[in-house]
Amino acid sequence: MWLFGVLIAFATILALVLLRKLFNYWRKNGVPSTSPWTILGDLWPTFVEGKIIAFVYNDIYKAFPNEKFVGIYDLIYPNLIVRDPELIGSILVKDFAHFQDRVTVQKRTSRLDYHLITLCGEQWKSVRTKIVPTFSPNKLKGMLPMIEYCAQAFDSQLREKALTGESFDAKETSARFTLDVIGCCMLGLRFNSLDDQDSEYRNIGKMLINPGIKGILLQVLRFSYPKLLEYFNISELPTPLLPFFTKLLKQSEEFRKHESTKRNDMMQLFLDIRDQEEQINDTDDSGISFNDNVILSNVFLFYVAGVETTAAAISFCLYELALNPDVQNKLRQEVRTVLKANGGELTYETLKQLKYLDMVISETMRKYPSTPFINRVCTEAYKLPGSSFTLEPGMRVTLLPYSIHHDEKYYPNPKKFDPERFTPENIESRPPFTYLSFGHGPRMCIAPRFAKIEMRLILTRLVSKYEFTPGPKTEIPIQLRSRIFLIMPKNGIHLQVKQVEENS
Ligand code: HEM
Repeated sequence: MWLFGVLIAFATILALVLLRKLFNYWRKNGVPSTSPWTILGDLWPTFVEGKIIAFVYNDIYKAFPNEKFVGIYDLIYPNLIVRDPELIGSILVKDFAHFQDRVTVQKRTSRLDYHLITLCGEQWKSVRTKIVPTFSPNKLKGMLPMIEYCAQAFDSQLREKALTGESFDAKETSARFTLDVIGCCMLGLRFNSLDDQDSEYRNIGKMLINPGIKGILLQVLRFSYPKLLEYFNISELPTPLLPFFTKLLKQSEEFRKHESTKRNDMMQLFLDIRDQEEQINDTDDSGISFNDNVILSNVFLFYVAGVETTAAAISFCLYELALNPDVQNKLRQEVRTVLKANGGELTYETLKQLKYLDMVISETMRKYPSTPFINRVCTEAYKLPGSSFTLEPGMRVTLLPYSIHHDEKYYPNPKKFDPERFTPENIESRPPFTYLSFGHGPRMCIAPRFAKIEMRLILTRLVSKYEFTPGPKTEIPIQLRSRIFLIMPKNGIHLQVKQVEENS
């Protein structure tokens, strides 16, 4: 028995020594850091206690109020959290050449792996440069009628709820709306998921945000031990995705063959680039051509990146309007005045005149940034300004939109929903890089203009016609979902809706 006790004691001491050695990187390099005590590093509260990852990082952010950066451990990997806005600006913009890539699996294990999030270096640059024109103001203007078409279905659902007095789930309805918009604007397909409760398109979307235990484990492995996935040639993506997106693409390409005029959607641009490159047999030095795998992967990515993010922003906005009737009334007043001055037309130009609406949207995305952290990998050695420490290639850096947006220093009383924070004067008074909802620099979100037009259009339409109020099912404060890399409501956002006189 005593021998067993000695063995246990010996194993414990050995484990502690090993952990101390494992978590010695930052200390050894003189960087202020955390001292985790399990193999899960600083992510223990996320995995074991189910704590929201944004809150775990935020606790660390707040524990080092005077530091510009803090060393932490994502499982056993050292990761540098950057707190200082000036340094954030250097990483995202000024010294971008040192931080071009994200944490990702380098080896491609699926035909869906050739998209902007996973591509690195010159290959990423080549594909991004080709895709960027998809979101030019002219292209967006052309997409407005398609967004308007989807908005009508949202409107009809609310009209029904207003008549019956039932509450509606703003999160689920918004997700179906943003999905239908992606279907129209990206593929030229009518998903009609707002009308079809058992929509196959929505079910695939739900699979992406509810990956199950196996999916979560694979995502964690992808993030923490990408080399392991590479070694065993494992894809973290659920099996039904590849056939689903392959079919979607085929449908979208097929119907174009029978049409005499060209569509104005994203897919058309993708196909034009591919055909052009095929004709002139063009591949640039990056070694990646704009082939079917690249198209397939980026259609998949837009589906992943464009639906839940925008839906969360729309629904959190409706939630805050319901809780802040003074803001809602002021917004309705603006919307009606601008609509009246423009003969009731919702054009691209009309939407740009809605300044208060923009402030409301910005404040929503400050309080609830869909992506609570942004990561980069150091691609060229980088000496951190004001320090003797040099980040070596391959090291991770993380920026925390949620924490910056909830830092009293930049946004006093951060829990308060206050669109006045976004008057031009107030924006000017804050240091640059303290608003990170879409990221910044060459690798920022590719579609902020698209997302904003979509949000402006639907919110204008809804607020001009309906009044939103909390009801018995509304959670105050709202609970957020854990074990997911996005900021999303845990149980939906249930609101009451009432039709208001158009001229009141
Ligand atoms: C409110 C809505 C949205 C928010 C808050 C959002 C936020 C973000 C953020 C924070 C990033 C990472 C930026 C970085 O690493 O610096 C990102 C990347 C990206 N987003 Fe969005 N996004 C939104 C909507 C969309 C939509 C509608 C699409 C596509 C239709 C989209 C496509 C992308 C893509 C492709 C990237 C990767 C860009 C690259 O690496 O080159 N996003 N987004």
